[in-house]
Amino acid sequence: MRLASPFCRSMRRWTAAVCHVEKVFPVSSTAQSETMQVRRLADSQLANFDKEYVGERKWAALRACIDRDFSGRPFSFLDIGGGNGLFADRVLATYSNSRGTVLDNAEILLRKNKDWPDRKTIVCGSAENLETLFAGERFDIIFMNWVLHHLVGESYASTTENVRRLLHGAGSLLHPNGRISIFEHMYDGLVIDNLPSHIIYHLTSSRRLSSLIRRWGANTAGVGVCFRSRKAWLDIIRDAGLDAVEYSEGSRWPIRLAHRLLLHMGNVRGGHFWIRRGLSSDSP
Ligand SMILES: C[S@@+](CC[C@H](N)C(=O)[O-])C[C@H]1O[C@@H](n2cnc3c(N)ncnc32)[C@H](O)[C@@H]1O
Repeated sequence: MRLASPFCRSMRRWTAAVCHVEKVFPVSSTAQSETMQVRRLADSQLANFDKEYVGERKWAALRACIDRDFSGRPFSFLDIGGGNGLFADRVLATYSNSRGTVLDNAEILLRKNKDWPDRKTIVCGSAENLETLFAGERFDIIFMNWVLHHLVGESYASTTENVRRLLHGAGSLLHPNGRISIFEHMYDGLVIDNLPSHIIYHLTSSRRLSSLIRRWGANTAGVGVCFRSRKAWLDIIRDAGLDAVEYSEGSRWPIRLAHRLLLHMGNVRGGHFWIRRGLSSDSP
C-alpha cells in the first residue's frame, strides 16, 4: 500500500471509529494508475453530489433485477463512486443478508457515511485503482451510479478507454453469475447519435472556457464530464467484454431550445443497465 495523504490519514482515523475502513489510497488532483489518468473535481464541485440520486422509480426497476437474479440469497456488493453512502444504506436496509463496500475518492462525501457494523466497509480510493484495491476479492453485484461519466482523461479517446478499462476490471471482480448495475444519463443527439457527448466533453473539460461554462451552469467546468448516447454506452459495455442483459429508462427530459440546438441534444433521459460478464470475456 502506498502512503496516504495527511488528510486521508486523518479521515481514516476519524472514520475508523464508526466504520470499517480497510484501505486508504492517495488522492491527487490527477489520480493516476499505470494505465489510467483521471481528472479530479475540486471539493467545492464534489460537495454538490451529497444527495440521494436513486428515486422510487429507479429503485423499483433495480429491485426487480436484484430480486430476480439473487432471490433471497445473501449477496455482497461494491458501490463504486458510492459517495455519501445513502444508496448503499438503502441496499443494506432492504436486503438484510447483504454486505457492502463503498468506494470513493472524495473524503468530503465518504465522511457522511452511516455506520453499519460488520456490514458496510468504506474504502477511500480511486476507481482507476480498482483491481489493486480489491485484488483477490469478489462481489456479487457491482454498482456504478452516475460515476462513469466522471472518468475524464486528457482526450475524448482516453476518457472512453478509462470507462472501458474500469468496466473490464469490474467484470473481473465479479463472482460467477455476478451482475454490474449502471445508472447513467443517456444523451442521444438530434441527428448525430453521440455528438452531444463530444460537445459537452470539450466544453466542460476546457480550462480556458471554465469560467464561462460554469456560469452556464456546469458544475464540472474545467475538469470535464462525459455523458454518452445509449448506443455509445452499450458499445463500451460490449467492448469491455460485458453483456447488458436488461435496460430500462426514465422519461424524456424537457430541454431548453437553446441547449437543444447548441448541444445538439435529442432524446435525453436516465437509463439503467443490468449487466453480466460476456461469454467471450477473458476475465477469470
Ligand atoms: C454524481 S456522484 C454519484 C454519487 C452516488 N453514486 C449516488 O448515486 O448517490 C459521482 C460520485 O463518483 C465519485 N467519483 C468520481 N470519480 C471517481 C473516481 N475516479 N474514483 C472513485 N470515485 C469517484 C464522486 O466522488 C461522487 O461521489
